[in-house]
Amino acid sequence: MTAAAGQPGGPGTGAALDGAAGVTGTAPLLSAAGVAVSFAVGSALAARVRQQQRLLRAVDGVDLALARGEALALVGESGSGKSTLALALAGLRSVDQGEIRFDGRVLPTRRSRADQRRIQMVFQDPYSSLNPRLTVGGMLRELLRVHHIVPSGEVEAYSTELLTLVGLGPDALPAYPRQFSGGQRQRVAIARALALRPDILVADEPVSALDVSVQATILNLLRDLRGELGLTLLLISHNLAVVRHLCDRVAVMYLGRIVEVAPTEQLFSNPRHPYTKGLLAAIPRLADSASSQITAADSGPAVAGDMPSALRIPAGCRFRTRCPIAQEICETADPALTQDIGAPAHQAACHFAFTAAPSAAALAAPAAAAPPAVAPGVPRQQQRKD
Ligand SMILES: Nc1ncnc2c1ncn2[C@@H]1O[C@H](COP(=O)(O)OP(=O)(O)O)[C@@H](O)[C@H]1O
Ligand code: SF4
Ligand SMILES: [Mg+2]
Repeated sequence: MTAAAGQPGGPGTGAALDGAAGVTGTAPLLSAAGVAVSFAVGSALAARVRQQQRLLRAVDGVDLALARGEALALVGESGSGKSTLALALAGLRSVDQGEIRFDGRVLPTRRSRADQRRIQMVFQDPYSSLNPRLTVGGMLRELLRVHHIVPSGEVEAYSTELLTLVGLGPDALPAYPRQFSGGQRQRVAIARALALRPDILVADEPVSALDVSVQATILNLLRDLRGELGLTLLLISHNLAVVRHLCDRVAVMYLGRIVEVAPTEQLFSNPRHPYTKGLLAAIPRLADSASSQITAADSGPAVAGDMPSALRIPAGCRFRTRCPIAQEICETADPALTQDIGAPAHQAACHFAFTAAPSAAALAAPAAAAPPAVAPGVPRQQQRKD
């Protein structure tokens, strides 16, 4: 299936897979097709009165593929569904719709221990992700025993090897998590993830909870480990600047859907989706700088306005309530992720991503000053009633 520019493959239909595979010319190692995850929210009583459950669609038809050995970034504002998608990919959250494949094989809802081992996660908060009652050695020993990774006589040597790999030494074995700094704890968490010899490491905001001074060292560690171990990496961040120097491709997520995916430098130099343009505009100094990684620009507002609730995803294009170039068609037609005809690895879900923008000048102006490009009389906030 090859979607040409302007030819929708349909949101959540798996249209992105071939394009992603085309990056390396091989079939994806991990892929999601039409994956949806929702949460029932509100009390049971309220649901009975309303005669329907309120469903929060955290992930709403995601197509995404990860090639073996690549580093893919998943970026987007807080609440866009990145963590929920990551948990679903790692088998830690069940999916309502769609399928997840590993090496071409559909992964069942209840994964075998061997399948669980293949995709390991590192979480944002190294303080809460480690058991405070176990020493590092005890934690690794338990994990290696359950998964039969090495014979029992080799556990200590293997644990030392792992800790050395992440920049700690055997001294860390008898220590408890509370005895480490934040950066060191994240190193322990990475060692624990690597202990199971995964094919894929999913790092969900791995440096967001750390001091700025140690963020770069943890990112560099991930980069080195990827090179050394041939890992496939999914790096999640709300900050595009963090992923620029680490990842081969970037996928941008908005309100439960992937809205743009492209090779990293292409995304930075020629973003096609207005949301991506907004995110990049929030880090202008970083977008132009090849050497910088994380600065105070991180804290700037990304895109004007607030993201709508995942309980009430706008009809048509889900970004239209904040889009500076929204048109009438955006009210009703949900744009599919489509390929740029000249660069198929670049995909975006916007009716005007690969055609002349209706009012390109609007994007050059600050978003707040840009006039709403919606036809008069058409309500921009028209939303689904679910
Ligand atoms: N366990 C949960 N129960 C209910 N809503 C949730 C749960 N986890 C996440 N959400 C909601 O799902 C949406 C996506 O959240 P999340 O995946 O954490 O986004 P991100 O990681 O991009 O910040 C948000 O609206 C969030 O409030
Ligand atoms: S122009 Fe329309 S389709 Fe494109 S992002 Fe804006 S609202 Fe969505
Ligand atoms: Mg998150």
